[in-house]
Amino acid sequence: MVFRLFVTIGLAVALIGALWALADGSASSGPGGGSGASGAQATAAIAMPPAAKELPQVTLGGVVAANPCAQAAVQAALSSGGDDAVVAAFGGGAAFRAAVVAGNAPCVDLGDPAREWVVVNKARPLNPMTFAPAPFGDPALVVDGAGSLRADVSQALDQLSAAASGGGIGSIALASGYRSYDTQVQTYSGQVAQYGQAQGDALSARPGYSEHQTGLAADVVSCAGGCGSIDSFGGTPAGAWVAQNAWQYGFIVRYVAGQTPVTGYDPEPWHLRYIGVALATAYHDGGFSTLEQFFGLAAAPAYLG
Ligand code: DAL
Ligand code: ZN
Repeated sequence: MVFRLFVTIGLAVALIGALWALADGSASSGPGGGSGASGAQATAAIAMPPAAKELPQVTLGGVVAANPCAQAAVQAALSSGGDDAVVAAFGGGAAFRAAVVAGNAPCVDLGDPAREWVVVNKARPLNPMTFAPAPFGDPALVVDGAGSLRADVSQALDQLSAAASGGGIGSIALASGYRSYDTQVQTYSGQVAQYGQAQGDALSARPGYSEHQTGLAADVVSCAGGCGSIDSFGGTPAGAWVAQNAWQYGFIVRYVAGQTPVTGYDPEPWHLRYIGVALATAYHDGGFSTLEQFFGLAAAPAYLG
């Protein structure tokens, strides 16, 4: 009975050793590939499996976390917390980004339009195409027809505008916020009718491909007495202030000069995209210019189909 047990254990150990050796690609790699050598390689492989060697280490609260998604705090935040709580549970914006870029965060879906980390571009349409956010909120300062924003984004824009006013820059108002799929049909077709297909595609997203449909994007204008246009915004003190400071309120300028080959759009100094304060801080501190670069995604200069 005892002998049979040892034989069974022995066979199991030998099988595991062979599997590790195969995974390491070294089972028949040379003259040393006999059963004794395989056993030594298997021991080394168990101590440091190939996958662990290849993944950059990501820390969570000072502890190396190969997959932060398995952490209880991350799980709890994902199921009941807001987006900011999830990023905090990862250890902050830089740690969140590092985990995503390393492929260590399978619970982070960059295609989820309800999350502040969603990436929408010409290669990444909204899913579903008719997505609408909730709840909505109305910023304190809006121009006629501006629409709403996601409620938390509306509050963040109010804070940004108040800070600009307090700094003597003047008010910043929402000129265009949430746009439904159907509204984007009108916006896009209007631009194409006026400027042609190629220029229209550089100015406006096709329906189902606009960040405005997430409720996370805000086109803003500068108001001092009356309000200016989005086209003039980049040349105003408010435009310069926003480029420098929007990250402190959770926004990035999504389409900046020099990045058209990545974003597919002409520069839009007025188009702010909310990603939350923690991620925007990591974006700013890391010197990033596009969300694609930030999350290690491919450039999206054109539509795939
Ligand atoms: N103007 C931006 C690209 C949009 O239409 O979403
Ligand atoms: Zn916009």
